[in-house]
Amino acid sequence: MQKITAAITAVGGYVPEYRLTNKELETMVDTNDEWIRSRTGIEERRILKGEGLGSSDMAAPAVKELCEKRGISPAEIDCMICATVTPDMVFPATANIVCDKIGAVNAFGFDVSAACSGFLFALTTGASLIESGRYKKVVVVGVDKMSAIVDYTDRATCIIFGDGAGAVLLEPNEEGVGVLDSILKSDGSGKEFLHMKAGGSVKPATMDTVLAKEHYAYQEGQTVFKFAVKGMADVSYELMQKNNLTADDIAWLVPHQANLRIIDATARRMDLPKEKVMINIEKYGNTTAATLPLCLWDWEKRLKKGDNIILAAFGGGFTWGATWLKWAYNS
Ligand code: UT7
Repeated sequence: MQKITAAITAVGGYVPEYRLTNKELETMVDTNDEWIRSRTGIEERRILKGEGLGSSDMAAPAVKELCEKRGISPAEIDCMICATVTPDMVFPATANIVCDKIGAVNAFGFDVSAACSGFLFALTTGASLIESGRYKKVVVVGVDKMSAIVDYTDRATCIIFGDGAGAVLLEPNEEGVGVLDSILKSDGSGKEFLHMKAGGSVKPATMDTVLAKEHYAYQEGQTVFKFAVKGMADVSYELMQKNNLTADDIAWLVPHQANLRIIDATARRMDLPKEKVMINIEKYGNTTAATLPLCLWDWEKRLKKGDNIILAAFGGGFTWGATWLKWAYNS
């Protein structure tokens, strides 16, 4: 009997209406469109505006879209895994809130916190639930409202991040398509270079932490950049070697969209031409856990059954990894 794999059978996405352009950022901090484009590849990012709106308000429409595309009711979902570092609240899990908002009344839900690698870590976790034979419909959603934790007076961080959500449905498959392998890594010694200083149990929120702006994302950009270039490229190459995949075998690279220069370095290491690399950083910026599923969402119509796809990410933690999957359907 063919092994059960977890196939992606539908993709959903959501980006907020508001476009924060490089031009607008020029009015907020000492930066310019040319610098941002040449150093990052970003032209604009989406921002979720509105009182009382959080990550679940982007994840819910993404998952609803996926259910409509697949023709299933949210009540059929067995499990909802939400990758995010900007949960609606510290607890309960945003996955639970999303289930409540869409009527996924039979699902259990939990969050995965692995920053920009969150979607990959959650995808591998969700795939294992399917492979076990115990669950039939697992939704993996990557969502971040980075605008909630970005300091819009810090030009080194505010220019890269944006808001958005992307989701995939995983179902059992016995034709050999779906998630086939992953190499995932983390190294907690990297935490000091990209983290939020306060608001956790080590340093709970006080007036002082708020005044010191310690509830914003803190990033030492250059250091993270160096680790990201090496980490994402090396792990993608390692996954190819492990599975005897050549550049010719790979239809698409889906890289985390943090910086165009990091994406280019990964593609070069894999010997892949640019035409095989999904890039939408120019219109969404870095949406943290949402970058990979938002690429799949944007490219879904061009994907063909059997396409070999490598997803790769690097993020805070440090966390990084790569996943190999075979696409399961033609749109
Ligand atoms: O998503 C998960 C993990 N995150 C990442 O992968 C992000 C990794 N890091 C990066 O993408 C880049 O480090 C940044 C885009 C954040 C920064 O780009 P960089 O090329 O590393 O710039 P830098 O920090 O080395 O700064 C170079 C210069 C500095 O000026 P001096 O000291 O050379 O005079 C900065 O002050 O550019 C200056 N600078 C800016 N200038 C205009 C920094 N930010 C800006 C800005 N506009 N927004």
